[in-house]
Amino acid sequence: MKFKLLELLKNCTSFISKEEISERLNLSRQTVFRYIDQLREIGYDIQLIPHLGYKLVSCPDRLLPFEIQDRLNTKVIGKKIYHYDLIGSTMDIAMKLALDRACEGAVVCAEGQIRGRGRLGREWISPKYKGVYFSLILRPEIPLNQAPIITLLTAVGICQAINKMALVSASIKWPNDILVNNKKIGGILTELNAEQNRVNFIIVGIGINVNTPRSLLPPNASSLEFETKEDFSRIELVKEILRDIEYFYLLFKKKGAQPIIEKWRQLSFLTGERVEVACQKKKLTGVVLDIDSDGSLLIREDSGFIKRLTAGDIIRLR
Ligand code: BTN
Repeated sequence: MKFKLLELLKNCTSFISKEEISERLNLSRQTVFRYIDQLREIGYDIQLIPHLGYKLVSCPDRLLPFEIQDRLNTKVIGKKIYHYDLIGSTMDIAMKLALDRACEGAVVCAEGQIRGRGRLGREWISPKYKGVYFSLILRPEIPLNQAPIITLLTAVGICQAINKMALVSASIKWPNDILVNNKKIGGILTELNAEQNRVNFIIVGIGINVNTPRSLLPPNASSLEFETKEDFSRIELVKEILRDIEYFYLLFKKKGAQPIIEKWRQLSFLTGERVEVACQKKKLTGVVLDIDSDGSLLIREDSGFIKRLTAGDIIRLR
């Protein structure tokens, strides 16, 4: 109910008296006071002027389900949101929820993580209130070999969202890095549960360095704020990412992998570049040719052989 009161305050352009609030929401004045206090505790700045009433001055940039779902307008993704202040990793909570039959599209987000993880067992630095850290539960009915497309469509959705919100162009470094000005500002970690050859569910973990100071980040990483010199609303960014991932997810369900691959190619940072790839304790060098219909990377090795890679750590050579 306190969120109904918040909605009322958001919709008022000017002050609203406590009498009017209690009448409109059918609440006692005592309850109105209590809810206002609770909202202030969460971080909403609500001004009170005697004889005029209340006015919402500002909202906290907290990834509260109510804020994310406000005008989100998605069909599946974000219909259910679990919000945590500080946790180990959103991946672990999402995995437990998915095993407990949480619905498709459920999102687990945290303001900070103390054991945030990235690919290849790396740490994902997740300071509180600075970046966005969330895991999304998807239940696509696909064979196991199509699962990498989910990472690709997530990357495409994230880039599209960033490009809409910022005056920069984000690109993708295979398989899961999001770059701005050639520096990593985000990453995707995909974990899945499958039986025989079918996917049961996929957990897609997304971490973006939004307003994170560079001093807290690894040497080659950056943040959206640093690259754009703008302060970002984490809520608006999460909303836009959820909408854009949903768009590409539904497109994939309807039309298959092809339109995703095409979009991915346009955003790929590496096509035509000379690279070194570390995979399974081996290193190879060559030129990136393309991406295959199952999401694997095609590289022409210096020896002339064309190699298909499903995983690996890639560095661009100058
Ligand atoms: C990578 O680039 O290696 C992937 C990073 C993924 C980080 C996100 S943050 C939300 C979710 N929870 C985690 O512990 N990791 C992912």
